[in-house]
Amino acid sequence: MNRKKALELIAAGLFPMLLPKKLGAMRRLFLDEIPEFSASDFGDFTWGVSTSAAQTEGAWNMDGRGASIWDIYAQNKGKIKDNSRPEITSDFYHQYPNDLEMVQKMGFGAFRFLISWSRILPDGKGKINQKGIYFYNCVIDACLEKGLVPWITLYHWDLPHALELEGGWTNRNMVKWFSNYVALCAKSFGDRVKNWIVLNEPMAFTSLGYGLGYHAPGKKGINSFLSAAHHTALCQAEGGRVLHAGVKLAKIGSSFSCSPIDTRHANVADENAAARLDALMNRFFVEPAVGLGYPVKTLPFLRKMEPFIKQNDESLLKFDFDFLGIQNYFRVVAGYSPWIPNLHARQHRPTQKQSEFTEMDWEIYPEGMYRILMQFSKYPVKELVVTENGAAFHDRIEANEINDAQRVLYYKKYLQNVLKAKKDGANIQGYFAWTLVDNFEWTEGFRPKFGLVHFDSKTQQRRMKKSGLWFKEFLSSP
Ligand code: GCO
Repeated sequence: MNRKKALELIAAGLFPMLLPKKLGAMRRLFLDEIPEFSASDFGDFTWGVSTSAAQTEGAWNMDGRGASIWDIYAQNKGKIKDNSRPEITSDFYHQYPNDLEMVQKMGFGAFRFLISWSRILPDGKGKINQKGIYFYNCVIDACLEKGLVPWITLYHWDLPHALELEGGWTNRNMVKWFSNYVALCAKSFGDRVKNWIVLNEPMAFTSLGYGLGYHAPGKKGINSFLSAAHHTALCQAEGGRVLHAGVKLAKIGSSFSCSPIDTRHANVADENAAARLDALMNRFFVEPAVGLGYPVKTLPFLRKMEPFIKQNDESLLKFDFDFLGIQNYFRVVAGYSPWIPNLHARQHRPTQKQSEFTEMDWEIYPEGMYRILMQFSKYPVKELVVTENGAAFHDRIEANEINDAQRVLYYKKYLQNVLKAKKDGANIQGYFAWTLVDNFEWTEGFRPKFGLVHFDSKTQQRRMKKSGLWFKEFLSSP
């Protein structure tokens, strides 16, 4: 019996005794039965892998690139857990031919990457850095040569530092600066790139970066958060309009962090707390885009946004996206809290005995993917694409392989739930794994590993993990 077969049998729960006791989480993951399914069950479907520039590109000050808020933030001691900086990372800037070859080898048909705003506009506006445009042209052309469909993200958290000096997202001029940047991208790349994601997880970067001060640029406070959020929501729609005008046959979306919400206790206080967290974490940015406005009824404190809202803004917040990008990493368990200002709700750690957690301490909850896809499919939108999904685990580096069996099982279970949602009527057209190569996980530094591919930080040598090999087999099977 080969090792693969043995693993499948263990997965089916036939030999639980073979599993080391220490690996409690993995033990349980293995024991749950995973029905067989294949890539073809998803029909005509986009399979891709997602990346972002700040996390992988490196070359932070080369060839005319301007600094981003993450470059500056990471220079402050203690902000990043391992005191690392995103200066070299996995050096996609120089390694992209190898990385794209990995994507192709694994059998993915699409590659999602970010344009680093300050690489093409070092000050965020004004002077264009032609070397930056050249670099992304090379990446796009290399994708097309390899038969990979390029998907561009326009904003994944790395604001040019020069714009932050003028207030960043709290400054309404962002709408103008962002539109000009998007127009430049449309003009430079739109002849070959048709799939566009305007923003990546607006709630994450506005709340963590401008409300709680836990991410770059480290701003805190309700006014900072609400002004940043409103300008972001305007840019989300404006970016869509600029792309629509500038790129023929463009398919335009935006990507949302989203989580199914459960209550800690079955009582009215916790149920209302769950509704407020749902409004904040899931509804806040999508609803103004689809014409429902901000969820003020559920979250009365959003009235504090009024000073930032101008006449006619409500209609400027709307844009008819071609798809919504779904990014689900965990479930939220909500409870009432008198201590949290404005929200009066807090998140609790799931306490069920069977709960398992990733290296990020995020609950492994595959059914959450099904639930959130069904929730978002109720919006009046054309289609959904899972633009990110993945997990950090402690990979075992062995002589012949990088053993990340937990990640393989994670992907199987989450994909199973994507398929279930598709069968139950959600119009899901694609799935992107997060991520290609282990990368810079923001304030967590390089410790959490999310990649399908491992890299050696000294030699930049790449090795495909077991999960990458699994995708290769999964995507090639009939
Ligand atoms: C995010 C970002 C990614 C993260 C990933 C894992 O959604 O937070 O898109 O940059 O690395 O989600 O945390």
